[in-house]
Amino acid sequence: MITNRKEEHVQLAISGDVGFRELTNGLEEVRLPYNALPELNFSGISTEVDFLGKRLSLPLIISGMTGGYPDAERINTGLAESAAALGIAMGVGSMRAAFDRPETRSSYTVLQSISTAVPVITNIGAVQLAEWYRKGALADRINECIELVGASVVGIHINPLQEMLQPEGEPDFSGVLEAISAAVDLSPLPVMVKEVGAGISGAAAHKLVKTGVACIDVAGAGGTSWAAIEIKRHQEQDKLQEFREVGISTAECIRQVAALRKQHPTQHSNHSPFPTIVGSGGISSGYDIARALYLGADLCATARPVLQAFAAGGTAQVIQLIGDWTLRLRQWMFITGAATPQQLTMMDKTQA
Ligand SMILES: Cc1cc2nc3c(=O)[nH]c(=O)nc-3n(C[C@H](O)[C@H](O)[C@H](O)COP(=O)(O)O)c2cc1C
Repeated sequence: MITNRKEEHVQLAISGDVGFRELTNGLEEVRLPYNALPELNFSGISTEVDFLGKRLSLPLIISGMTGGYPDAERINTGLAESAAALGIAMGVGSMRAAFDRPETRSSYTVLQSISTAVPVITNIGAVQLAEWYRKGALADRINECIELVGASVVGIHINPLQEMLQPEGEPDFSGVLEAISAAVDLSPLPVMVKEVGAGISGAAAHKLVKTGVACIDVAGAGGTSWAAIEIKRHQEQDKLQEFREVGISTAECIRQVAALRKQHPTQHSNHSPFPTIVGSGGISSGYDIARALYLGADLCATARPVLQAFAAGGTAQVIQLIGDWTLRLRQWMFITGAATPQQLTMMDKTQA
């Protein structure tokens, strides 16, 4: 069942009408401030960033998408080659299938080949995480996930809208926050929590910050609509359309979560550094990356545009696409006077 589902998701994401119809990622409303005195040489602009202790060439992650069925191995291999060539991080899709159907494990283990070059991120559904926690199996399962892909970050996804609409979904989110907190304590690696395209609000992020997570990927609305994908797979398609546009735009999520950074660490007892903020959900250009950073994201992530590029022209097309985004990001950095992505993130918004 899971294998068919994951395959259907990929096919719908490549060719289906699964974007939002009305909601946008909100980045189109952001105007980057022009700087007539950047004091920079364009050729010296660096797009490198730190991501949880590892260096990336570009502030970008290929978001977790797939694994768990035969063709997923081909896709993950191609995306991993692209990520390694580009020097960016990459996640795998939900790792549940690796436990339910161990014969599909090679679709995940292909990531090991790039794990010394770039950060690899596991992907565990929060519902699954809570179940492992209840059964006392959390530490073992997390370590198995880490080993399978050679991870340097433990990724967990929260997706109540998707679970509720998925015909075979498991919409039981009770105990999820406690399980995330336990995962932070038990994991030998930093923990990142992501949505899947409906967004993490400031209020939800505030709860995550208190657990001590190292990274929050807002995965906001405006890109791939998981409600649209699951509704297409549902027998009662017509009755569920009202959920298609549910979510908080990516720009709004970044604004709300970045606003929490100002209150930290005084408000939190654990005094761990404020989590790295990943801006994602409908990121589809270097301009989007620049605007997401300016709003306060530390880096960005992208899923569907990369999958579509891979489907159209393989690894070469993914590298070409992200190469174009890199040039455009550097151009925006130059004319705003940002020598590094971090300077764009920290830029004084009052001077805009
Ligand atoms: C085909 C496909 C499969 C996905 N599978 C997963 C998954 O297994 N786990 C997960 O956390 N997110 C999954 N996602 C969500 C993405 O990681 C991402 O958060 C979301 O698509 C928003 O990014 P985008 O607008 O750039 O596509 C998937 C996305 C796509 C397109």
